[in-house]
Amino acid sequence: MLITGGAGFIGSHVVRLFVINYPEYHIYNLDMLTYAGNLENLKDLENFKNYHFIRADINDEKEINRLFAKYRFDKIIHLAAESHVDRSITDPLAFVKTNVIGTMNLLNAAKNNWPEDFKDNLFYHISTDEVYGSLGETGLFTETTAYDPNSPYSASKASSDHFVRAYGETYNIPYIITNCSNNYGPNQFPEKLIPLFINNIIEEKKLPVYGDGKYTRDWLYVKDHAVAIDLTFHKGKNYCTYNIGGFNEWQNIDLVKLLCDLMDDKLDRKKGTSKALITYIKDRPGHDKRYAIDANKIKKELGWKPSVTFEEGLEQTIDWYLANKKWLNNVTSGDYQNYYTTHYNS
Ligand code: NAD
Ligand code: TYD
Repeated sequence: MLITGGAGFIGSHVVRLFVINYPEYHIYNLDMLTYAGNLENLKDLENFKNYHFIRADINDEKEINRLFAKYRFDKIIHLAAESHVDRSITDPLAFVKTNVIGTMNLLNAAKNNWPEDFKDNLFYHISTDEVYGSLGETGLFTETTAYDPNSPYSASKASSDHFVRAYGETYNIPYIITNCSNNYGPNQFPEKLIPLFINNIIEEKKLPVYGDGKYTRDWLYVKDHAVAIDLTFHKGKNYCTYNIGGFNEWQNIDLVKLLCDLMDDKLDRKKGTSKALITYIKDRPGHDKRYAIDANKIKKELGWKPSVTFEEGLEQTIDWYLANKKWLNNVTSGDYQNYYTTHYNS
């Protein structure tokens, strides 16, 4: 099987789970190693016989076709993407290239290389709840909610979802799409809210909260997402979509305050030290007010539900970042420093 984007945040947890749980599978992790991809995330898997790494760009049509012909992948879990909303506002075209064209290249390679009956094939596309747009104070996204993306990131993911579904309808390629809410946990690049703020608290830097801080997200621990992907990959129905969420809505400012208290505790700092770093800054353009997932379909059909509470997951996440300062230092150098200076000083 092929897993794309396996050196990234969610991908690394998915690769580890599959490599350890399924020694009989030959697992190929294809990743270009952009700023967000890091082989340190998978160091413990280097000597597993069922694990292979391929460095390649999904935008390279010829190379993707060559790899499909050479390795004859039966099934794909496709996670490779540009994934950060703020970067998509600065450089939308990069998101069209990787998220739309890159997905098309994989779909075409599957169409051209898989047998006509597609008996043993699956194109499993990992997507986001952001394709549904923004909710008001009430309501939840279900699998039938109309797509209404607002950021270049979510528009590019929506487009790729449509192409996956279209290839299912038009060419019968068996697919599954899952749309998941915001993930958090170990190995997340510190540009997204939770790891950015953990890093800034450690370094006693300001905590830049967009707008009034009353934006709401539904948070899921990354290892619970990986378990949901495993279940769906093996037991989900082809040509279907499943929503995955944490049943766990938080306004940003409440989440940040909880994080501050936990960090003060862990770092032996006086209560209130981290909260003093909170700084309200200019809002993100096109900022979606609220995301919340109705994950009852996957719960009922496949018996999946989150295994940890938010407080437990957040504590495990903080412990991981504090124990892995070298990882943090390595990824916060280079390109990231330039991005951080430009984005937050503008
Ligand atoms: P990430 O940015 O941490 O990792 C993306 C990975 O893709 C990196 O390893 C990167 O090197 C690789 N990649 C990027 N462009 C590539 C290219 N052109 N060719 C090959 N590899 C390339 O992202 P993530 O947060 O782990 O997200 C993974 C997937 O899950 C994405 O498709 C994202 O849209 C989706 N998703 C993420 C979240 C979330 O909260 N992070 C929630 C729902 C869905
Ligand atoms: P983020 O982690 O970027 O995920 P997404 O935009 O995909 O939901 O952001 C989560 C929320 O936190 C979102 O409402 C934007 C907000 N946010 C801030 O207030 N400040 C920040 O510096 C960042 C990165 C995010």
